[in-house]
Amino acid sequence: MSAEVQATAIAHVNMALVKYWGKRDPELFLPWTSSLSMTLDAFWTTTTVRFSTEAGEDQVKLDGAPVAGEQQRRVSRFLDLVRSRAGRTGRAVVDSTNTVPTGAGLASSSSAFAALALATSSACGLSLDPAALSRLARRGSGSASRSIFGGFALWRAGHDDESSYAEPVPAKEDPQFDPVMVVALVDTGHKTVTSRDAMRRTVETSPLFRPWADSAAADLKEMQDAVARGDLDTIGEVAERNALGMHATMLAARPAVRYFTPNTVAVLDAVLELRRAGVSAYYTMDAGPNVKILCHRANADVVAAAVDAAVGCPTAVAGAGPAARLVVRP
Ligand code: PMV
Repeated sequence: MSAEVQATAIAHVNMALVKYWGKRDPELFLPWTSSLSMTLDAFWTTTTVRFSTEAGEDQVKLDGAPVAGEQQRRVSRFLDLVRSRAGRTGRAVVDSTNTVPTGAGLASSSSAFAALALATSSACGLSLDPAALSRLARRGSGSASRSIFGGFALWRAGHDDESSYAEPVPAKEDPQFDPVMVVALVDTGHKTVTSRDAMRRTVETSPLFRPWADSAAADLKEMQDAVARGDLDTIGEVAERNALGMHATMLAARPAVRYFTPNTVAVLDAVLELRRAGVSAYYTMDAGPNVKILCHRANADVVAAAVDAAVGCPTAVAGAGPAARLVVRP
């Protein structure tokens, strides 16, 4: 007879304002630099993990379709990690749905592995505190370490498995400080170079990687202080320069990795135009062509209209989102 146990978790996507780019230890997902993000309310992943005592291959479904190949193996390796810690055997059935396009530089892996970490560990009977959960999520995807927390989160690079995890960052509590990200969905197709491959190539070949990594500590300090005092203009300025620096490291890799498209650049120009017109708006980009524009909530419509006029692509507005949570307990 087989006994089943299941859990369902929800985790939200986070967008880095000071980026994680490059692994010091690819096995343990230890990053070169610490990073800081905002968790978003508009995009999340819901994941159910069901363990049975039966042997066999794990089954993984994403948005209703079976996942195969490297994506499936990646999830299975993660499940193995949890199974071995919990002393559990037996196959798992994983069912995951995203409200954000997958693999398009919209940080879908941050919410995906945070939800998977919480659902899997709970279904296995492990009760992990947020720091331990963050360490575990990190082993699936580095950015997932930050999606365990709501609001702003700082992932301390650390130097080993134990010391590399995220924690909440205190933000100014003030109704005037209500930042949002206007996400310009320039292109939601699958990226051609995964962030994992792009990171590896950048670290191994880009002469600009080390200077960028060396500058990250100062960006992080400035960002933390700006979040604490609710200073959107400084947050935006630091986020913009940090993201451009990250993309510069990729452009200098051999061969170059370029996620920008002409429409990406048109949106960046539209943001500069908004600033010249006195609107506080700042951009950041990840491993894909899409642009996230940080602004005050009161300006979200103006920013979305500027994106529409520039490239006519859809936009979504996201404010600060909640921490990962269990919705069905084992
Ligand atoms: O965790 P990954 O492998 O999806 O890498 C995320 C990298 C960036 O999104 C580009 C930056 C970040 O800090 O999230």
